[in-house]
Amino acid sequence: MHKEFENALAAIEAKITNLNPQEIQQAFAYIPLDIFAELQLERPSAYPNIVQWLPEMPSADVQIDWTGSANHVLMDQTLSFIKTIISTYHEITSKPISSRTILDFGCGWGRIIRLLCKYVPVDKIYGVDPWSQSIEICQQTRVPGHLFISDYLPRTLPTPEGLKFDFIMAFSVFTHLSEKVTKICANTLRDHLSDNGILAITIRPIEYWDFALNLENYGFSHSYIDELKAAHKQKGFAFAPHNREKIEGEVTYGDTSMSLQYIKDNFIGLDIVRVEYNKVDSLQLIVFLQKA
Ligand SMILES: C[S@@+](CC[C@H](N)C(=O)[O-])C[C@H]1O[C@@H](n2cnc3c(N)ncnc32)[C@H](O)[C@@H]1O
Repeated sequence: MHKEFENALAAIEAKITNLNPQEIQQAFAYIPLDIFAELQLERPSAYPNIVQWLPEMPSADVQIDWTGSANHVLMDQTLSFIKTIISTYHEITSKPISSRTILDFGCGWGRIIRLLCKYVPVDKIYGVDPWSQSIEICQQTRVPGHLFISDYLPRTLPTPEGLKFDFIMAFSVFTHLSEKVTKICANTLRDHLSDNGILAITIRPIEYWDFALNLENYGFSHSYIDELKAAHKQKGFAFAPHNREKIEGEVTYGDTSMSLQYIKDNFIGLDIVRVEYNKVDSLQLIVFLQKA
């Protein structure tokens, strides 16, 4: 690590136990995000107080179960996503994200929140996920923020009543939802956005299905993939349900592709304001939306 960063970390190490959430967030201003990520992966013994403040990483198995890869490979994708959402949020709103209230919808094991807390004081970060195991892992590994279990068909959110979010992100969530749940989530998240709030979701493009064909553990046939691609071409939406329990009469979770036109036609009261993607994770398009 560069001496400059070691010096800055030593200064934070000496005072972090006496700082409040805002002061901690400000203290990390001179620590680049890549170093902040490395601290979480390596947990260097030279900085026991910082390491104690940081959440622990879950096992590689947990990371792979939720997100398909683990540790440095996954961290590189996460870093790209965080850099994209932070810079795009600033570019659209011209407001500092450090004073905003943030929701990570479908937060899983807290992959995004763990890095987001470099930019946003932890008392302004919220996370929800309907899978109780996700929230349990977050709690076991001390992911910061206010975390709640949500519904699989989330017509409301379990966050404090009346609380609106300046920025809501849903990474790799709309890439898994049935059409009915997609529409419910879009409506609920819109209703929880502040007036100029931004919603960032990721979606799979049609090209995802050719990639899925080669996923050994999926066992998709050529004809099934053709059907899914045909559905995407025809209505802009394709869903391959996983073998899961039905909720309100249908499987809500699987693999999903969606076109931008589908969002324009079906996400009522929301406008697309930016589209991004990163080459390290090229089958996740990042779509930024604002209330119409
Ligand atoms: C692929 S994981 C992504 C987790 C996290 N966003 C990340 O990027 O690391 C998908 C997450 O969506 C959650 N999920 C499933 N159905 C959901 C729903 N109806 N509403 C919100 N989240 C849901 C799952 O429990 C899981 O944690």
